[in-house]
Order: sequence, then C-alpha cells, then structure tokens
Amino acid sequence: LAAGPLKGVKALVTSGPTYEPIDPVRFIGNRSSGKQGHAIATALARLGADVTLISGPVKLADPANMRVIHVETAREMLGAALGCLPMDVAVCAAAVADWTVSNASKEKRKKDASGQAPLIELAANPDILATLSEKGSARPRLVVGFAAETEKVLEHARAKHQRKGCDWIVANDVSPQSGTFGGDFNSIHLITASGVEDWPRITKADVAERLAWKIADVLKGSP
Ligand code: C5P
Repeated sequence: LAAGPLKGVKALVTSGPTYEPIDPVRFIGNRSSGKQGHAIATALARLGADVTLISGPVKLADPANMRVIHVETAREMLGAALGCLPMDVAVCAAAVADWTVSNASKEKRKKDASGQAPLIELAANPDILATLSEKGSARPRLVVGFAAETEKVLEHARAKHQRKGCDWIVANDVSPQSGTFGGDFNSIHLITASGVEDWPRITKADVAERLAWKIADVLKGSP
C-alpha cells in the first residue's frame, strides 16, 4: 500500500446511482454520474488509504489502487457496505434511490390488451448513510454524507445532518442551472459539528482532494 497521511486507514466510499428493477429489462434510476464519489475514492487512495469503492451502475472506469464492488440496487449497496465493516471512514456519495419497486415482476411486463398502464408500487429503501451512522461500536470513526439540493441548500443540509446522525454533510446545489449533475465542477458547503465552511466553485477532483486532506486531518487526531 502507498505511504501517505491515510496509510493504514480503511475507507469506504459509495458512488453513483442505484437502479431499482421494474422487471428484468426496465428500472428506475437517476442521473448521478458517480464522478464526485469516484474522485473521492481516488483522492483517498492517493493519500494512502485502503479504499473500498461500492459503485452503482456508472460509465466510469474502475479507479486504480482500490477494491471496487459493483452493485445495482440500494439493498445490494447496503449489503456490500455492511459486509465491509469495520471501516475507519465512510463517505456516502451515492445517489441511492429512495424507493424500490415492491411489485417488480420476474418476467418482462407485457402491454395490456385493453391499453391499461401497469401500476408501479414503491416501498422505501434502507438508508445506507443513516444505517452506518447508527452502527454503535462498528460505526466508522467518521461518517460523511452528501446533500444534493435544488433549493434552500443550507437549510435542508443542516436538517439532514441532524436526521442522519453522520459527522459531516457535504452540501451541494444540483439545480439544473448549477450544472453539477454530470458536470466537472461543484460548489459545496461542508457542515460539521463546529459549523459551516463555504468552499469556492472548484472541480470535483479538487473537492475530493480537499475533502481527503480534511479526513486525514481529523483521523490523525483520533486514533
Ligand atoms: O436523504 P438523501 O437521499 O437526500 O440523503 C443523501 C445522503 O444520504 C447521501 O450521502 C446518500 O449517499 C445517502 N443515502 C444513503 N441511502 C439512502 C439514501 C441516501 O446512503 N437510501
């Protein structure tokens, strides 16, 4: 393993969307590219961390120097995350689907002769970030979540920080005019117990690097 400030630190990163099947050929998904999560995994590995990246379906190549676990659904992502514990730090950057299709069919759904559209029933997915934050003695020392918001970014992100029980929330504006989704830039606010840091608009790679150094700073201070 590489030397660096995160040498010996085990890091878990979730990235990308999840796909929730409707039937074997159709799914419900979202527009997450995985760029920010993959960049964070890469930055942590560059600082010497032992990284496991759990990725939903993305068009990105697997980053080098880490273990990559490919999953499709939120349930699979949770299973993979729990299977990785214990971890020192978890960064949940995945855009996990809030709902799964509870009446997914094993066979491809056929068009109804009468022209009736099928009803898709949804059920809540497990929250991976909240689950990891609640893990008691198996809880990573540092749990970081994201809040992608289209309005009232700080207000919603602060509420999420409380609700999820994580240590930090990286809040970003993903409104269509921000160009964040699928783009290379991000402007974020970092919410911690001690307050809010506003970062300038920088590339996702730079956000990842800055976050990785910040993670190294706090983990070095707490054995
Ligand atoms: O609740 P919301 O989806 O806005 O929260 C976003 C944060 O929670 C992200 O860090 C995301 O990775 C995480 N999350 C999760 N599992 C879910 C939903 C969100 O880990 N089912």
